[in-house]
Amino acid sequence: GAPAKVDISKLEPGAILIAEWRGKPVYIVRRSEETLANLPSLAGRLKDPENSNKAQQPAYADNVNRSRKPEILVLLGVCTHLGCAPKYFAEVKPEPFDAQWQGGWFCPCHGSRFDLSGRVFVGSPAAANLEVPPYSFESENVLVVG
Ligand code: FES
Repeated sequence: GAPAKVDISKLEPGAILIAEWRGKPVYIVRRSEETLANLPSLAGRLKDPENSNKAQQPAYADNVNRSRKPEILVLLGVCTHLGCAPKYFAEVKPEPFDAQWQGGWFCPCHGSRFDLSGRVFVGSPAAANLEVPPYSFESENVLVVG
């Protein structure tokens, strides 16, 4: 399929843009400095905090932020359990309540939870982190997925 071009110039910190690539939703979030600073603290509660499953991200996103630019996160909106579309929560924590969940994605189908880099929490039926699709930046504010 053709690459998807997305203008991210109006994407505010904490906000999400949903694009489409190869018939699948692509979630694009601009993370705040605070969110990025918090990510390492979640490691002990995640199934794969170090991206050991190399199929889940391109090499350039195999880093602590799972992204090319620290603040811009790009994920496929496809739950790694059975393929539902996880819902984004910038901060609000849905049931089942978890005081240590700092926002991210919650899958309404069977309750998998992911952090703000798409890493799956222990206790989720999903086993793998959300997939980072191939992408690049055509310019400062134009993201190309694919
Ligand atoms: Fe997401 Fe089952 S499809 S938890």
